[in-house]
Amino acid sequence: MRVLVTPDYRTLSEEAAALVARAVRMKPDLALGLPTGNTPLGMYEELIRKHRQEELDFSRVRTFNLDEYLGIAPGHPRSYHAYMKTRFFDHVNVRPEHAHIPDGSPGIDAALECERYENAIRDSGGIDLLIVGIGTNGHIAFNEPGSSFDSRTRVVSLAPETIQNAWKHFANEAEIPKHAITVGIRTILDARHILLLAAGPAKAEAIERALRSPVSESVPASAIQLHSDVIVILDEAARRH
Ligand code: PGA
Repeated sequence: MRVLVTPDYRTLSEEAAALVARAVRMKPDLALGLPTGNTPLGMYEELIRKHRQEELDFSRVRTFNLDEYLGIAPGHPRSYHAYMKTRFFDHVNVRPEHAHIPDGSPGIDAALECERYENAIRDSGGIDLLIVGIGTNGHIAFNEPGSSFDSRTRVVSLAPETIQNAWKHFANEAEIPKHAITVGIRTILDARHILLLAAGPAKAEAIERALRSPVSESVPASAIQLHSDVIVILDEAARRH
């Protein structure tokens, strides 16, 4: 595992984007695992800049988002479909047919959707570079504490801390989804390369536990210690002092 500590969030975003850009240039049909949330926003902005100013070409890149709320239509402004569209896809040349996100639409057969999604990843040849954030409770994607390291794409209940952290994005508590579809820990560990991003002091304790505590299902992010090709990029604030 390589851990890179950057002085600030901007540098973290630039380093992450540079790593993604190098991977895309080396393998134009790269399969990317993509996160949502606040942490990757700067990386997406920098990738958009590289697309516009440095001819970074996503026309053959395939993307697989890591998760989506369940019970929310893709058109809902708080869906991860909407996040990806407005924050990234509208500004680069990823082809719509190459962009995969679990479908959490109300009324969907969620078990079938999970199976379809896991199969789509496998049939694409697997994820080359999977980028993921970390929750304050140590979750990765929506794999909350207690998730099996053998888990694959499935429906999960969101942890109280995750629901609490989502409050700022929703009008009221009743609107916050309580379930999601997420790729599993095993799905994440199957990726050829993993890039974990963490910024800000709220993540310092989770990062410390993920990187230095014994590997345990009570800290889902500690699973990355089992992978042989991981880069962690932290900003200075996310490093415990
Ligand atoms: P954040 O979320 O990037 O919005 O902090 C990360 C996560 O919960 O995985």
